[in-house]
Amino acid sequence: MKKPIGIFDSGVGGLTVYKAIRRSFPEEDLIYFGDTARVPYGPKSPNTIIEYSVQNARFLLQQGIKALIVACNTSSSVALPYLKELTDIPIIGVIEPGSEAAVKSTKNKRIGIIGTEGTVRSEAYSKAIKLRLPEAVVFSTACPLFVPIVEEGWQDHKIALQVVEEYLSPMLDKKIDTLVLGCTHYPLLSHVIQKYVGDDVCLVDSADAISEYLKNILPSEYDGILGTDKFFVSDNEAKFAVIASRILDSNLNTLKRVRLFESWFID
Ligand code: DGL
Repeated sequence: MKKPIGIFDSGVGGLTVYKAIRRSFPEEDLIYFGDTARVPYGPKSPNTIIEYSVQNARFLLQQGIKALIVACNTSSSVALPYLKELTDIPIIGVIEPGSEAAVKSTKNKRIGIIGTEGTVRSEAYSKAIKLRLPEAVVFSTACPLFVPIVEEGWQDHKIALQVVEEYLSPMLDKKIDTLVLGCTHYPLLSHVIQKYVGDDVCLVDSADAISEYLKNILPSEYDGILGTDKFFVSDNEAKFAVIASRILDSNLNTLKRVRLFESWFID
């Protein structure tokens, strides 16, 4: 009996990771949870992000998953050690694969990281990169407006290019040759970002990176039977379904709302 792989994100952005995994693992059963009731995680404190991530992981563990993919960069950057305490199954965040891909790509050892405020504040990418390439020079910038632009479907609107220019012009002055898209939503803006930074800068997509990484740790159990998909959210299924169909170029068949909040307490 096949066990599913669980994937969670703060919302819809993790579907970029789901899409990359689905492409590489057609035979796997996948369960996706998007915490749409509490998105965005980016501006929240580490304690809150950890609390939410633990609840999300518990829900997926209850579904009998064999591996957990933390598609959210913000969760991956602060919550992984806490999630690993919950279970013995493999738990994979996006930071390690993204950092490994950045180190492989850079020639001049000058690497840019863009992500949410939480991800940038944690310095998780720059620590993971320097562990692998101590002489690397890493520049990080939070780009909070990228998330609402993508959620609004404005990737091709002129405002997208203006915002990209505003956030990334200081980064370009640093002569980086590699830029990590350290947020689930950013791959959906990659055409605008690439146009602005130019072809000499290699974009590292954490969605592709994690899917490549997974191939090494998850043995293929291909049995000729295509895997199934289940999607869960904590709020607003209708909005999720609309954005999801844009990201995935298809409609979701199985989408349900769940409540994760078993208990509330005062600190
Ligand atoms: N999923 C988040 C991430 O990758 C972006 C959206 C949010 O702020 O929750 O960091």
